Amino acid sequence: MTFPQQRLRRLRKSGAIRRLISETTLSVDDFVAPLFVREGITEPEPIASLPGVFQHTRDSLKGEIDQIRNLGIPSIILFGIPAEKDATGSGAWDPNGIVQQAIADCKSVTGDDLVIMSDLCVDEYTDHGHCGVVNDDGSIDNDLTLDLYKKIAIAQANAGADVIAPSGMMDGQVAAIRQALDGNNNLETPILAYSAKYASGLYGPFREAVNVSLENSDRKSYQQDWRNKREAMNEIKADLNEGADMIMVKPAVTYLDIIAQARELTDVPIGAYHVSGEYSMIKAAGEKGWIDETQVAIEQLTAVKRSGANFILTYFAKEIAGCL
Ligand code: PBG
Repeated sequence: MTFPQQRLRRLRKSGAIRRLISETTLSVDDFVAPLFVREGITEPEPIASLPGVFQHTRDSLKGEIDQIRNLGIPSIILFGIPAEKDATGSGAWDPNGIVQQAIADCKSVTGDDLVIMSDLCVDEYTDHGHCGVVNDDGSIDNDLTLDLYKKIAIAQANAGADVIAPSGMMDGQVAAIRQALDGNNNLETPILAYSAKYASGLYGPFREAVNVSLENSDRKSYQQDWRNKREAMNEIKADLNEGADMIMVKPAVTYLDIIAQARELTDVPIGAYHVSGEYSMIKAAGEKGWIDETQVAIEQLTAVKRSGANFILTYFAKEIAGCL
């Protein structure tokens, strides 16, 4: 008996023919490596829930980005952890703040060989761990927060950031940052908007990485409800109208439908954030010998590309770059 599917089977016979007809290619060119730099430590600190990822010192960060560049990875995104946190997160816009110093360090090491993205938010810098100014009743003051974001954008751009990536999900943040950048003569600095960012349980290990504990509160008043899809398209459209140069969907694998629909909606580059929990789950199951970590990582990252993303922020960047 022959069946029509046999045509498909004939094209799976060898690795070479499978490569020849593959529709999606994962490449090191697709990767953005997230990196943490912490003020006031003298040695890099491992992050228990993110095996293989470290809180870097300014010095160890330089070595790390040198390796990343040599692997052919085109970009990194930086997160800073200040020695002191306060109610407004003032370390975030201090010209001598940890991330500003780290951006300048990175530019001095890799110049234009690496795209230095800078996460723009205050949660790593506030003592309460929220992404904005918290009112007495616990709500977030959107507009006061935008004023802070403008200051951060200018500080990061002055330090030499190539791309500014606001992640706080405040309304109007892209327009506010664009205005601040233009007013500071940074007309050429693009904005990567974390546009469709869900209030996900998958950010757990990241909170350890940046020493944030939200105690009894959550971010559901400003991050998206995971039950909703149309809402994501509205968030993306709003950010594009405000001048976003690129948009992001976050997390990645649980939100492939959102990435696919965003791909239909817009022609701007789409980034997807394969977040800390997505990484840690693979690492943990791999450590137990339950799955083949490398295979699952490549499979997931390829799925993210297949769904329509142009690039992926992933803690696997270094490890998988060596396997492709
Ligand atoms: C906010 C921010 C978060 C992540 C990236 N930027 C945390 C959050 O929104 O709670 C999470 C990334 C990850 O989990 O890997 N500055």
